[in-house]
Amino acid sequence: MKVRIHKLFDYLLETTEQSPEAIVGFSLSQSPRLGDFLADLDPNLSLDWNGRSFRGLPELRARILAQAGLDGKCAADDVLVTAGAAEANYLAIMQLLQPGDRLVIEQPGWPQAEVLGTAIGAEIVTVRRHEEEGWRLPLDRLAEAATPGTRMIFLTNPNNPTGQLLSPEDLTECVGIARRAGAWLLVDEVYAGLEWDEPRAPSIAGLYEKGITTGSVSKALGLQGLRTGWLICRDPGLVMDAVILRENSSEIMNVLGEHLAEIALRPERLVPALDRARAQGRANLARLDAFVEATPGLSWRVPRAGLIGLARLPEGLNGEDFARRLLAPPYRTFLLPGSAYGEQQHIRLGVGGDSGTNLATGLERLAGLLREMAPEP
Ligand SMILES: Cc1ncc(COP(=O)(O)O)c(C=O)c1O
Repeated sequence: MKVRIHKLFDYLLETTEQSPEAIVGFSLSQSPRLGDFLADLDPNLSLDWNGRSFRGLPELRARILAQAGLDGKCAADDVLVTAGAAEANYLAIMQLLQPGDRLVIEQPGWPQAEVLGTAIGAEIVTVRRHEEEGWRLPLDRLAEAATPGTRMIFLTNPNNPTGQLLSPEDLTECVGIARRAGAWLLVDEVYAGLEWDEPRAPSIAGLYEKGITTGSVSKALGLQGLRTGWLICRDPGLVMDAVILRENSSEIMNVLGEHLAEIALRPERLVPALDRARAQGRANLARLDAFVEATPGLSWRVPRAGLIGLARLPEGLNGEDFARRLLAPPYRTFLLPGSAYGEQQHIRLGVGGDSGTNLATGLERLAGLLREMAPEP
């Protein structure tokens, strides 16, 4: 089994070192500084591993359940602390899928399941979200795709990259579809917490015995560099399989990540941190929406959650050519092309990050390049 590179990572690898002057593609909230945590850190903390559980620091697992609204629905041992949501997805996919197994994914969506499923030799069935339908997940097509015997359905909620949300009713329907097919239902909830006009959707691990929730402190809390996330599932066999695979990859969690995440998820920190992230995200998103409205040739479906969305370029323009020209002088502005998600005429716009992203400059330059590439008739 060899894992092949995906367009999204290929483009990031190629462009990360080009030092853009502005970024219109940042997908996470402003990141805190280490100093913000020092007062709550124990200087005598041993930098050996946590020494207590291969599933992760017990206090952190309790906080993870509480923030996901899973108290009373899942037990602490249903939680495995992982190196980000990425590792949680990896462990579940690798332990559940065999060559020839049917894996149902969404497009546009987070590419990890497709990359790993392809490497495993799974049969991959794609359910398309359509822009004309507001990028919503078509549940009738999901039901058709998830034939009996399907091994896994992999979804993101909120969706990366469109910012669309599955409601509690949608999720109940997804559970029905998965149950009828006998499938595991993995919902990557890494963007949860940044819903703009609706409450956070319920976590799938509380709704379905074969539901797998993955998430992390990376996005809403901006703590991506801690590499601390989780997998939650009520099936003890699945959690144990993930523990076993992790023992043979990274073995144990990084202890600083566990402690910092536990501090960040304490209610007295979590509530104000989310309030700040939401206020900032909402303001930036309103600015971006006004920009898209006012910019001839650009259109989008406003994200209902998260800090990113897909915008359509004028007919005849290719998102990847556009992104490359925008990154080159004189514009020097980074964004991700829609080709990272299989959408050739789109670009991914994101409004996360701090003042270092120079959003206003980035938007001006984006408009400048649009004028240059698509002069008005
Ligand atoms: C949908 C989705 N899942 C997982 C990840 C990985 O996140 P983490 O930093 O928690 O590993 C990302 C990061 O961009 C993401 O967008």
